Amino acid sequence: MNSAEIRQKFLGYFASKKHTIVPSSSLVPHSDPTLLFTNAGMVQFKHFFLGSETSDYTRAVSAQCCVRAGGKHNDLDNVGYTARHHTFFEMLGNFSFGDYFKEEAITMAWDFITNELNIPRDRLTVTVHHSDQESENIWIKKIGIPKERVIQCGDNDNFWSMGETGPCGPCTEIFYDHGADIPGGAPGSSESDGDRYIEIWNIVFMQYNRTIDGHLHPLPMPSVDTGMGLERLSAVMQGVHNNYETDLFKEIIHTAEQMLPHTEQARDKNEHLSSLRVIADHIRSTTFLIKDNITPSNEGRGYVLRRIIRRALRHGHKLNMPIHFFSRLVPVVIKIMGGAYPDLKKAEHAIESTLYREEDAFSLTLNQGMKLLEKELLSIHGTVIPGDIIFKLYDTYGFPIDLTADIARERLLQLDEIGYKKCMAEQQERSRQSSKFDIDYNQNEQQMEILRDKSSTFLEVTHGETEAQIIAYIPGEKDILVLDKNSLLPRRWRASR
Ligand code: SER
Repeated sequence: MNSAEIRQKFLGYFASKKHTIVPSSSLVPHSDPTLLFTNAGMVQFKHFFLGSETSDYTRAVSAQCCVRAGGKHNDLDNVGYTARHHTFFEMLGNFSFGDYFKEEAITMAWDFITNELNIPRDRLTVTVHHSDQESENIWIKKIGIPKERVIQCGDNDNFWSMGETGPCGPCTEIFYDHGADIPGGAPGSSESDGDRYIEIWNIVFMQYNRTIDGHLHPLPMPSVDTGMGLERLSAVMQGVHNNYETDLFKEIIHTAEQMLPHTEQARDKNEHLSSLRVIADHIRSTTFLIKDNITPSNEGRGYVLRRIIRRALRHGHKLNMPIHFFSRLVPVVIKIMGGAYPDLKKAEHAIESTLYREEDAFSLTLNQGMKLLEKELLSIHGTVIPGDIIFKLYDTYGFPIDLTADIARERLLQLDEIGYKKCMAEQQERSRQSSKFDIDYNQNEQQMEILRDKSSTFLEVTHGETEAQIIAYIPGEKDILVLDKNSLLPRRWRASR
């Protein structure tokens, strides 16, 4: 079954159980400052769970685009190193807003995977929260799973929260055993991080709202939020154990391989595999992020996007890929995903040209930065990359620290993060100092008087919002505003200038 058929079958199954099909929402969460990106299917329904908004339906089903590359749920560092982690993935989910609860949620999930998809029952293991006797009873007595394949786990594994605050609750998870030839152990065991037992479905019983002080407040109505990664399910259904071998990734990897120079093509394929997988993952996330109107920049979501792009370009550099290889992969992503997400086609040109410009901008410094790093690596003693080198790579060559961390990991080295932060703090101080004097001296005398006044201090423009009187506006290469109090201007103001 290909991934499009699986997606359709899931939506159809739950529609037949009276669920309303709700389209995927944007990767930028709608009016939710607690989240960087939409990281789960429940994000667009958060207010229904909290009871602060009401919906026209009490049952919903969706295939939600998610990005986990920052904040509480961040899989960026694992991409390329495991068979199952992605920065971008689709989450298939069914939801109950005060409608059905544990028994019906578990029964439908089991029915779907064993009767609709025909996944063999003896390949499945489940976990429950150790306090959740009710779910354990449902699995053993109603569904008939042998007791030894119902494993109790603690909060780390079986209590799901969307972030530091918001809806949360205990969960029960379904795992698929890819077989003894794959390294890894059963859930709850010390080897559970391997790729043998893969969690395919998480069924969360939304019962609490966590507030900033850490307290759990009962939700007005117990609800259900489930999530099953389409990539992992496709691997199961297509008889492969690695998500990157499914139809969602195969053609992207194949196209990238075709772009390898002959010298690289002649080498052992396995040498390229993990970089090709990183590239295939990152082209999907960047394509979808740009479609959702995020542009590469030096702050916030735009910086996460830029970091993902640069990480992919570094892997391309490692494989001696030609320049602009990355933007050339956009049409392949759109070919695979455009049927389910028609907006991709409309945004194709914008996505390609955004990536093309980023490739142009980074290619020169990437080359120089890598040369610097190689040279420095020859002279370091021990296994730690010094902080000043990491800082120089960041400051002069535009290497985000996670890009350097990625290189360090490949070479079994560590980063001196403390030294890096120290260099960063010193640089910020220098820039604060120089900004004080970065004035166009061709000003009128009265304005200059205000600046010379010792009670004036330079404030870096960061977050914050207040009302203030403008005492002076001094245009120059960097415009200066003098206010009647120590206040921080909102970013919004800067953006609109
Ligand atoms: N919110 C849960 C998760 O992301 C289930 O959908 O795993």
